[in-house]
Amino acid sequence: MMKMTIGVSTLLAALLASPAVFAHGDVVPHAVDTTGLDPLGPEWRDENPYRGNPTAIEIGKHAFAANCARCHGIDAISGGIAPDLRKLDKGSLGDEWFQERVRNGAVRNGAVYMPKFAEPDGPLSQEALWAIRSWLDTVAIDQ
Ligand code: HEC
Repeated sequence: MMKMTIGVSTLLAALLASPAVFAHGDVVPHAVDTTGLDPLGPEWRDENPYRGNPTAIEIGKHAFAANCARCHGIDAISGGIAPDLRKLDKGSLGDEWFQERVRNGAVRNGAVYMPKFAEPDGPLSQEALWAIRSWLDTVAIDQ
């Protein structure tokens, strides 16, 4: 019989080195190519300008997987780490709350629950973020 030679510290090191232990998907934010979407400029829109736009939905699907799924779950099905974004209001109320969170993140008592995602503090353009919002609409469920 083979003897197990892996020590506890080795196992621990492997666990700590593996982001998959904590969440699904990638850890590093990914730049998103928004070619094909109307540029929006730096001024934030109150409402999603791409709602129902098939190009935005496709871009948003991948952008979500690369940037948000590690906390909010693959296909936005939350594993409990962060809110289930399928339950976000589908209308302008949801747009407002979405914008609030992706621009400001969620920080309480100095603890970062969600980092800022919108440029210039975060990695993603307004275009990329509204694309994600457009995709979220397509997987929304009634609460
Ligand atoms: C590091 C983990 C993490 C990542 C990555 C992350 N979020 Fe969050 N998000 C959270 C947590 C935790 C909350 C709940 C914050 C709170 O407790 O107030 C949250 C809240 C939200 C909310 C408000 C939901 C609600 O029901 O109140 C939205 C919208 C949101 N996130 C969108 C996104 C989007 C879009 C991305 C990717 C661009 C993203 N998040 C990436 C952790 C994360």
